[in-house]
Amino acid sequence: MPETFLVIGGNGRVGREVATQLLDAGHGLRALVRTEPRVDALHRTDVEIMRGDMGDDQALASAVEGIRALYVATDDPEESVEQMRNFVGIARSAGVERIVRLSAMSADPDAKSDLSRRHGLRERALEESGMAWTHLRPTWFMQMMLEYAPGGRLDLPGGTGRIGWIDTRDIAAVAVAAMTGEGHEGKSYELTGPAALTYQELADTMSAATGRDFVYRDVQPDEYRAMMQAEGDEDWYIDLVLQIYDRISNGELSNLADGVEQALGRKATSFEVFCRDHAAELIKQL
Ligand SMILES: NC(=O)c1ccc[n+]([C@@H]2O[C@H](COP(=O)([O-])OP(=O)(O)OC[C@H]3O[C@@H](n4cnc5c(N)ncnc54)[C@H](OP(=O)(O)O)[C@@H]3O)[C@@H](O)[C@H]2O)c1
Repeated sequence: MPETFLVIGGNGRVGREVATQLLDAGHGLRALVRTEPRVDALHRTDVEIMRGDMGDDQALASAVEGIRALYVATDDPEESVEQMRNFVGIARSAGVERIVRLSAMSADPDAKSDLSRRHGLRERALEESGMAWTHLRPTWFMQMMLEYAPGGRLDLPGGTGRIGWIDTRDIAAVAVAAMTGEGHEGKSYELTGPAALTYQELADTMSAATGRDFVYRDVQPDEYRAMMQAEGDEDWYIDLVLQIYDRISNGELSNLADGVEQALGRKATSFEVFCRDHAAELIKQL
């Protein structure tokens, strides 16, 4: 019998890849999902689906039963910190030995940025749990470009700031290695792609890969706030996103790291390869 691994956040941008790669490697999969399963991997008949969220102790206790190693990703409201503290207690009591968690670059319990601080506090909860842990600390996902260019327009407040964009397939590969293999315990993997690119460079590369026009427009933060409000985003989330764009514009997220190579012994995927592999999905936005 293959071992069954638990994925929490399997509908997510990274979680769906973790689920897919676990199944492709022949492992068993249980997924705790907050909403309906929305991705192909979770519709396979051999996947055990449970419904619930990080605020639901009973669902969490059922999900971790019999599980040795798990992956967890959630979103980042203030209550996510207390929920993680609570969750590690439930997991530990059930005998879970290893947790791999999707964090973020520059996670730090003392950071000024809400996102970095909340990630840092959740990392700390894991470190103090007594279970083996691996922190995945990616920069921004290349896959965001499959959603962020409606009509070919990248209207974003990124200025000329650079980001070491990473492919979620690489993050997932590190997650699967850390869940199923040895030697990743107690590691914080800083995960970036091979190049720090501006939004203008992203648009140019997307245009070159698809033969279609993708155009970047640097919008002011106030205009972007109004755009997010019109989309129905909650205020806490808008504040968090604008804080990140401020850091991007100031060049604070431009560093590159070799976590993919450290964990997997191979180079991270480039944005050119990402665009080539996803050309049809990029064009769907036009
Ligand atoms: N997006 C990026 O570029 C980026 C970069 C670095 C780090 N991160 C970090 O990665 C994490 C996930 O972000 P993402 O962009 O990947 O979001 P995402 O694609 O929406 O994935 C988050 C997943 O977590 C699930 N989830 C959220 N809150 C939950 C809760 N209370 N209980 C159970 N499941 C919950 C969601 O479930 P449903 O879909 O079922 O609602 C979703 O599947 C965040 O902590 C973020 O800070 C993101």
